Amino acid sequence: MRTHYCADINENLIGKRVTVAGWVNSRRDHGGVIFIDLRDKDEVVQLVCDPADSATAHKVAEDIRDQFVIIASGVVRARGEGLENPNLKTGKIEIVVDDIKIENRSKPMPFDLGDDKVNEEIRLKYRYLDLRTPKSYNIFKLRSKAAIATRNSLDEQGFLEVETPVLTKSTPEGARDYLVPSRVWPGEFYALPQSPQLFKQLLMVGGFDRYFQIAKCFRDEDLRADRQPEFTQIDVEMSFCTQDDVMSVAEKLIRDIFTACGMGDKVPETFQRMRHSEAMEKYGSDKPDLRFGLEMVDVIDIFAKCDNEIFSNIAKTPKKNRIKALKVPNGDNIFSKRQMKGFEDYVRKFGAQGLGYFQMKEEGLKGPLTKFFSENELQEIIDRCELEVGDVVFFGAGEKKTVLDYMGRFRLYLAELMDIIDKDDYKFVWVVDFPMFEVEEGKLKALHHPFTMPKLNENGALDYDDIEELESVAYDIVLNGVELGGGSIRIHKEDIQEEIFKLLGIEEEEANEKFGFLLEALKFGAPPHGGFAMGFDRLIMLLAKTESIRDVIAFPKTQRAQCLLTSAPSEVDNEQLKELNIRIRKTATQAE
Ligand code: AMO
Repeated sequence: MRTHYCADINENLIGKRVTVAGWVNSRRDHGGVIFIDLRDKDEVVQLVCDPADSATAHKVAEDIRDQFVIIASGVVRARGEGLENPNLKTGKIEIVVDDIKIENRSKPMPFDLGDDKVNEEIRLKYRYLDLRTPKSYNIFKLRSKAAIATRNSLDEQGFLEVETPVLTKSTPEGARDYLVPSRVWPGEFYALPQSPQLFKQLLMVGGFDRYFQIAKCFRDEDLRADRQPEFTQIDVEMSFCTQDDVMSVAEKLIRDIFTACGMGDKVPETFQRMRHSEAMEKYGSDKPDLRFGLEMVDVIDIFAKCDNEIFSNIAKTPKKNRIKALKVPNGDNIFSKRQMKGFEDYVRKFGAQGLGYFQMKEEGLKGPLTKFFSENELQEIIDRCELEVGDVVFFGAGEKKTVLDYMGRFRLYLAELMDIIDKDDYKFVWVVDFPMFEVEEGKLKALHHPFTMPKLNENGALDYDDIEELESVAYDIVLNGVELGGGSIRIHKEDIQEEIFKLLGIEEEEANEKFGFLLEALKFGAPPHGGFAMGFDRLIMLLAKTESIRDVIAFPKTQRAQCLLTSAPSEVDNEQLKELNIRIRKTATQAE
């Protein structure tokens, strides 16, 4: 219906007749001459409807309102002196309309399109209108480019795209499952996959060697700014590979995606690697944001010598506890006393008992805690933290996990507050050598999933003194403090898998019931294999620099897992329930 998209109309077309089609972005009546900004997928062009040029076109234009769908033809001309709009790609020209047609009318918009301050609920209810803005269009253009680059990159690297089922059995990613009742098998349920983890391993047993999929995953978990109940992963698995092989596939993939999105220069030649323990100890997080410093330093041995019982007691068990120092260069000149007090309130929210600090003055360390330390000890703190006049150093002391967590959060909080994060910087890091297990409520739990290969001794056997120190061949790719993806080398031998289940307290019967098909497959010559999955939505968030995952999903759910556009989830007919053999038990509030 059109000869050109708006974006393609420029000075080269002056004097030529064109036809454009799209929506009315705005309309201005300047005493007879009507100006219309027509917008198509991603650009705006100015139409001029002057009764002197075409009385019929002008008559139609009088009836036109915002967001009407119109098709207009006319001749391109240069805008007059001083009337150019440098903010528009088409700002140097306009179209003198001689024919214009209203293709469809529109009700008034329920909100101002493109106004970010509009309540998100209303934008999600009318998501198709929210999508009608260049900002949205550009995000989805990026997403499409990234998806195509993913396919091209992995195809080039010898991977086969294979689809795996969505109606399946529970997969072990640690969230709650979404369940789908079976009509054919009354009382039985499918689970929607939390990831294609088990199927991709089976494809390796099937001899496919290299698999990938841009896969939909479903997890019923508490939602956050970077989590959706239904999200997309780039899922990869390969056989006869080492951790390094998997990482180099992922690095090339990331480089190819960034390049396709015009950001190839943001990807380093080599990706930094960091042990999980280093990430935790220095940054208080397994997804460290390396765009800024503010690293933590261990001072538990110095505090062990001080006269304060609380600290010296904590320091007695350095394996279980931590005393961490976090230096803020020039902090003494940046923060007021009141702010420092506020910092303590901040960390208390995450379980801190308090937050000590020292100020580095000309005459030495000052602060409420100095009286508990000898001159020598204070000097040790100055040396260890490399303090200079004007610096402030904060201390967190207590149980290891709690201290690392709140000091890590505090580090991020300070960086935001001081505005020291370069938002154009992209800092990738592989976090490696994860512990195999973590202890939760006294129970051993797999840190990744139970099919992750533990580090074995030279005889290929499990070998450890302290089970909590056993490491796994697992790795996460972190970008700017966001966990972009993760993976591992998998267990391909039945005996090791059984031992891991035993350690996790998964009984044989339970293992067989849940993953029997995988355990069975391992008995039929499973090759060594491993892989990773990258959160595709999160990747797009980082590429598009948006704060909310909802911006990069065409029809997202709210924080309460609702689709406001379609009103899902919703009640269903009794007839449907009957077919499924399901009766709804009213909750207490519904029954009232
Ligand atoms: P994992 O559970 O770490 O690994 O998931 C991989 C990546 O998927 C993204 N992600 C999410 N994105 C949006 N919303 C969510 N609710 C959500 N949950 C996860 C993250 C995460 O890093 N099967 C393993 C991978 C493997 O071992 O190969 C897995 O799914 O970016």
